[in-house]
This record gives sequence, structure tokens and C-alpha cells, in this order.
Amino acid sequence: MKHIAILGFGVVGGGVASLLQNNKKEIEALLGEEVSVDYILDLREFPDSPYANRVVHDFNIILNSDVDTVIEAMGGSHPAYEYTVAALKARKNVITSNKEVVSLYLDEFLMLAEENDVVYRFEASVGGGIPVISPLISLLRHNKIREVRGILNGTTNYILTKMFSFGESFEHALADAQRRGYAERIPDADVLGTDAARKISILASLVHGSLVDVNTIYTEGITKIRGEDIARLSACHHSVKLVGRALFGEEMTVFVSPHAVPHNCPLSHVDGVYNAIEVVGEPVGNVMFYGQGAGAGATASAMVSDLMVTYLEGRCYAIPRVRDKAVPASFRELPSRFYIVIKQGTMSDAPNTFMKIEETENEVAYFTDYITLDALQELTKHAEMLTILPILE
Ligand code: HSE
Repeated sequence: MKHIAILGFGVVGGGVASLLQNNKKEIEALLGEEVSVDYILDLREFPDSPYANRVVHDFNIILNSDVDTVIEAMGGSHPAYEYTVAALKARKNVITSNKEVVSLYLDEFLMLAEENDVVYRFEASVGGGIPVISPLISLLRHNKIREVRGILNGTTNYILTKMFSFGESFEHALADAQRRGYAERIPDADVLGTDAARKISILASLVHGSLVDVNTIYTEGITKIRGEDIARLSACHHSVKLVGRALFGEEMTVFVSPHAVPHNCPLSHVDGVYNAIEVVGEPVGNVMFYGQGAGAGATASAMVSDLMVTYLEGRCYAIPRVRDKAVPASFRELPSRFYIVIKQGTMSDAPNTFMKIEETENEVAYFTDYITLDALQELTKHAEMLTILPILE
């Protein structure tokens, strides 16, 4: 019999317990033995749950038990970090969905897992139920990865989709996302781009082999996106999407920003709470992963998939090398094309590398040629800039 403990009995932790129960037959058929949820760690009691008698409030009970694998679904950095370190040192496998703690400490966790001959897996930390980390690592073995880019946050994609489909304002679409339980009451981590930055930093770290410090990533959220821009770009065959990107050339550049995405790019058609990640490699070309990026069932599916690999293969990943720290190059120096909107009458002569796409009483919109953000801001420093969005190629 296998023995697990679940840390955090919220949406994700509860989803893992339900999946193990509902798909017990399939799981046992694969493993040839039973998986027992011995403990659930949470601050709360769950008197009406079938797991009521397994709820504990002291992590040491789990640490000193026969539990072989800890499913960490707590979220937040602390005490998730301390519990993960303690579990790995106690030679227990750890499986997590916690992108915050993975993005900050992946190098340390992988090293501890190796030293203690146990497994640390984190498929559910990016893209919810989408298998992306394991396939990316498989691609890494023999491809040159040029770029990883994705719609990594379901909440903001839902908000942008509502703004696009129903002409709603950002505030209105956010309130709707909150009513439906997609966005938190304090939605900052989603709408300011922090959640997407954590996820792209994890993917970039895997490709680069060094931990990309999430605090050094240029991160812009969707709070300044205007309905006018979405409508105008739509008429020019572009969607607006929050995209996390990691580009690997002579230098690595990692950033998160809303982008104007041409309709011929597959990412422009990823709508609602769905996520998608596109990997561009040589010689594989473009590979896309698509699915539900959040929610109990999807995230639990990724965690139980890690559990199965842990039990069946007993290994972390084929290339679990994420060592040292890396500071990516600045997005400000990456040449890109931009969609910009300037307040009417504040820029006398537009450079001839700007293509005017619309002029109204109040504003003028352009597509620019390739230019860095720094150079663009210098060129337009006397103008009042209303919107500036890189264009995804
Ligand atoms: N808040 C996240 C999202 C949850 O909206 O994508 C999944 O990581």
C-alpha cells in the first residue's frame, strides 16, 4: 500500500482526494496496489468530509509517519517552502501545484530530492491540467528551444475574452470573473501579471538550466487595457492576450505583457479560462499544448499524474538540472513591433516607420516597425502615450 498526505484541503487538495477516490479502480490497476490518504493537513476542520478523521494540524505528525509522498497544495511561499524541505530531507517524495514556491526554490528542491534519493515533481504548477512540463523536458533532450510562450493565466484570459466578446470594460469583466469564482477578491496576482510571471519563470528555468529570478522579469498586467484598443485591434485582425514569453538566443529574455496577437497565431484563439503554451524548437518546429489551466479536476489530474510517475518510475525528470540563478536580459532591449496609441495633437511628426491604422478626434493609433521599447519611448517622449502593446510574431 502507498501512503500519502495532502497539505491544504482547498480546491486543489480536495480535487486530488476526490480523483483518488473516484478513479480508484483505474489507479490501482496501474499501480497494482492501493493509495491511502493517511493525513490531510489544514488549519480548518472538515466535520462533514469522509476524510474528517484524517485531518491534522501539525506537520510533524506527517513527517514522522509512514507517508511516502506529500502532495503540497497549500499555495504561498511559507510554510510551503519549510514543509517541502523537511519532507524531502525526511526522504518523502513531494508533488506540488504551488507555482509560487516552485518559481522561487526549484533549484534547491531538485538538489535536495537528488541528495535524498526521492522525487520532486511540479507538473501542476504551470497550465493546470495541461501536461507541459514533462513534454517540454522531453523536447529539451534533443531540440534547440528558441522560444516558449503562452497564455498562462486563466483569470486574465477570461477577462480579456469578455472584453473582446461583449465590449465590457476591464472593471466590469473583472467583477464578473470574481462572481464566477475565477478571480480572487484581491485579484492582484492575476491581473498584475505576477501569476503568469511565476509560470513563465518556471518554464524558462527548465530550458535554461538556471533558476530565473521571477523578480527580475519585466511584468505588465492587463489593468491598463482599454475596450477601445480591443475593438480597434479586432478590426485589424488581432486579439489582445496576456502572454508570458521566454526567448533563447545569445541571451535569454523573459517577460510578461499583454500583446496584440494576430489572428493567424493559434494563441489568439485561446479563449475564456483556457491556457495554451507554444514551444518553438529546432528541429521540432512549433508545438502547442492546450487545456484547462485551473480548477479542481484539471489541477488534480496533473498532480495524480505526477504521483503515478513517482510510483511507477521513481524519478524526478530526465533532466532535473536547475542550478544557480539567472537574470534574464531586459525586454526593453528586445526589438519588437508595437501597437501604440497617442493622444491627438501630442506628436507633431510621426516617424515614417509608424503605420497609422486609425485616427479619431481624441487619439491616433499606429503599428510600428521593429524597435526596442526603450528606443520607442525615447522617440515618443514628448507625446502622450495612451497604449503600448508588443505585437506577437
Ligand atoms: N489564478 C490562476 C489562473 C490559477 O487564473 O490561471 C491557476 O494557476
